[in-house]
Amino acid sequence: MKDDQASSTAYTVLQGILFSASKPDYQPLIPAEMQQACRKILSASAEGKKRLSQLDSRLYRSFAPVMENAMMPGITLHYVLRKRYIRDAVEAAIEEGFTQIVNLGAGFDTLAWELHQQHAGVNFIELDHPATNAQKAKALFELSPDNLHLLAVDFSETDAKGALEGFSGFDPERRTFYICEGVLMYLDQPDVERLFSGLKQLTGSGTRFVFTCVVPMTSPDNNCGWLLKLYLKIKGEPLNWMIEQKELPQFLQQQSYQLHDLAGTEQLKQRYLKDINHGVLHQGEFLVLSSAND
Ligand SMILES: C[S@@+](CC[C@H](N)C(=O)[O-])C[C@H]1O[C@@H](n2cnc3c(N)ncnc32)[C@H](O)[C@@H]1O
Repeated sequence: MKDDQASSTAYTVLQGILFSASKPDYQPLIPAEMQQACRKILSASAEGKKRLSQLDSRLYRSFAPVMENAMMPGITLHYVLRKRYIRDAVEAAIEEGFTQIVNLGAGFDTLAWELHQQHAGVNFIELDHPATNAQKAKALFELSPDNLHLLAVDFSETDAKGALEGFSGFDPERRTFYICEGVLMYLDQPDVERLFSGLKQLTGSGTRFVFTCVVPMTSPDNNCGWLLKLYLKIKGEPLNWMIEQKELPQFLQQQSYQLHDLAGTEQLKQRYLKDINHGVLHQGEFLVLSSAND
């Protein structure tokens, strides 16, 4: 990642969501406020404006699905489904009494922005690389809400625990729910393990954590296409931590966390696509809801 540029993958996620939102079948999955926030973020930079104009281009709209099939079939709809899953988990936690939501590597995710006004008593914090954070602040934060904070962190220099401990906007006494969506695969295994233990040390047992995991490229549960595999081979494997779905329960146990729910492609389909006409679904990333043991 370039230090002075916002994350390209953060732009890609928003573009994928808006691409899905332009299909009538998927509209019900994507709240209007979320679409507005995605547009607002993209409108605030040259790169974002380029992504928006691509969405209006007939050539791009016919070419994008071909590229998606060759690289990561079903990924644009998958972004929508994983965000739905996380939104449901966060809303359930707030209902249960959690009063602090911390998103690690939030990128341009819009959930905290959408929820902070509805839940004035809940403290929202988003951590990301300084350049991505600065771009998001420019796009959304004309005012600085009391209960929504952006914290600039480079995880290659400071881990989440170190960053949050020294941040005045973070309150270790609150029941805290952490999100780590589309990020763990960029970390090394020791950093992933340090993250789990760090969150537990910060806010104690009962700390809740929802995160996404990528399965190895060679797994039968991964439908990534030949072009992505070729790209990764040429690039020398930029993804670091990957784990098979069946290995996750044991991994969590080793971190002293309890598994509450695990959702792969089939579970997401059952939960969110029952009456929806959809194309090929992405396989290769699953979601986990967990909490720290005593
Ligand atoms: C694939 S994006 C996911 C963004 C968001 N969580 C989502 O799913 O919409 C990965 C995010 O991780 C962040 N990230 C990657 N490496 C990082 C680092 N070393 N320090 C801080 N953030 C980093 C990027 O800036 C980017 O926003």
